[in-house]
Amino acid sequence: MTRDARAILDELVAARNERSEQRAARVLREDIRYWDSQHGDVEGRDAVAAVLTALDARFELETVAAQEDDAVAEVQIDEGGRSHRSTEVYRLDGGAVAGVKAYFDVHRYPRPVMTPISLIPPAPPLSPPDRLLCGPGPTNVEPSVLDAMRQSMMGHLDPTMHELLLDLVEMQRAVYGVEGDAVTLPLQATGMSGMETGIVNLVSPGDVVIVGYAGFFGRRIAQMAARHGAEVVEVTRDWGEIVPNEALLEALDERPEARLLAVVHAETSTGAQHPLAELGAALRDRDTLLLADCVTSLGGIPLAFSEWGVDFAYSCTQKALGAPPGMSPIAFSERAMERCRTRDHQVPFSFDIELLLDYWVRRPATYHHTAPILHIYALYQALRHALDEGLEARWARHEEAGRYLQGKVCERGFDLVADPEHQLPHLTAVRVPDRFDGKRVQQRLLDEHGIEVGGGLGPDAPPMWRIGLMGPNASIDVADRVLTAFDAVLASEPAAE
Ligand SMILES: Cc1ncc(COP(=O)(O)O)c(C=O)c1O
Repeated sequence: MTRDARAILDELVAARNERSEQRAARVLREDIRYWDSQHGDVEGRDAVAAVLTALDARFELETVAAQEDDAVAEVQIDEGGRSHRSTEVYRLDGGAVAGVKAYFDVHRYPRPVMTPISLIPPAPPLSPPDRLLCGPGPTNVEPSVLDAMRQSMMGHLDPTMHELLLDLVEMQRAVYGVEGDAVTLPLQATGMSGMETGIVNLVSPGDVVIVGYAGFFGRRIAQMAARHGAEVVEVTRDWGEIVPNEALLEALDERPEARLLAVVHAETSTGAQHPLAELGAALRDRDTLLLADCVTSLGGIPLAFSEWGVDFAYSCTQKALGAPPGMSPIAFSERAMERCRTRDHQVPFSFDIELLLDYWVRRPATYHHTAPILHIYALYQALRHALDEGLEARWARHEEAGRYLQGKVCERGFDLVADPEHQLPHLTAVRVPDRFDGKRVQQRLLDEHGIEVGGGLGPDAPPMWRIGLMGPNASIDVADRVLTAFDAVLASEPAAE
């Protein structure tokens, strides 16, 4: 097969730029008419294949300099340890690439020992280091969840897949505590997309939204609502505190027309837990919907979506559920769904809850997007695992590990960022004492012990280490590993400047 020479050269250059050995090899095998060695012409694709396979040679295409009618590629040939460079010419002949000239003696080396060098050197093989992930998330993945991701792929429109989606949704209902006509499904993106889904579905531009925050993620809700055109009323407190429900209700008394009131159930940037059940109860007779960020709470601490009167919640997969990041379990109450049905603004396709339900829940299923099948398997197994363990038992495990860690940290004389009355069990933010360089300590924990912990998030955060014991890592054993590593690093830390 011959093609326009320019196109072939462009293809080779593109292959090189993409570092795609496969693409370059295809061009060499299929698009070049003959290979001209020093010892005579060899016609056809087989000649090129000979370069690549019979002689066990693979060319490193370093430069393809297209000139008027020639393009030159550097070739490195390694002959049994003695390596020399040679130049190959792709000669343009009447608009077609005519051949490849290789300057090495195939007779002297009838079967030259050539250490194959890559046509285009690939990056090294994937080999991530072993890490104990004890930061604010992601956490390590449950082994059975990783196994689930190795199972056979199905198509997103396979009826068997659609059955699986329904089973997953049922499990998600149980883990969230979703009851009655409230609906739940996981979104095809991370927690932040859950936040966005709530806002775009439930808030119309110009609506008043009250956001209570004392940390990074609550502030993000306020920013997101403002971007969406809402009039945002912010009720804030310092990092580590919570915004008391009374303050939120006062703000609501001042702006009773507010369409949404938003809080973060588990503020990962500080380790504080909002009294969500009490807030839900206080809002029960109001028209304002309650949005709760449950990214760090779902699966780790008690949560009863319907019983507590939450109207919209979103979460993630990479924390207390012990799955990889990539999906966002969300839930809408019945009255939140009613708001969706009566809203008068358009919602982006990706976040439109009605369209998502058409794929996830209503049958026959309607295409919405190509679902991330392996991530769905992962979440499926993570939810199965959580229910198999039992939610109470799981919450108790997170509680026990986290409180143990916090006790030991305080025994060592460190202060925690969160108000002790509202301290989350499974996310502990430790204030970095002035004498330490917090970032350096984090780096040493990673380099010397393979343990990841978090630091402060965002420019306003005070210096801190954030230690998460979530999912498979919610255990006394893991807490001890983290403490031992901290002790070792801190014992040899110089005082910060
Ligand atoms: C409380 C909270 N909300 C929202 C998010 C955003 O979730 P994601 O990073 O999965 O998009 C996070 C992430 O850590 C979080 O901790």
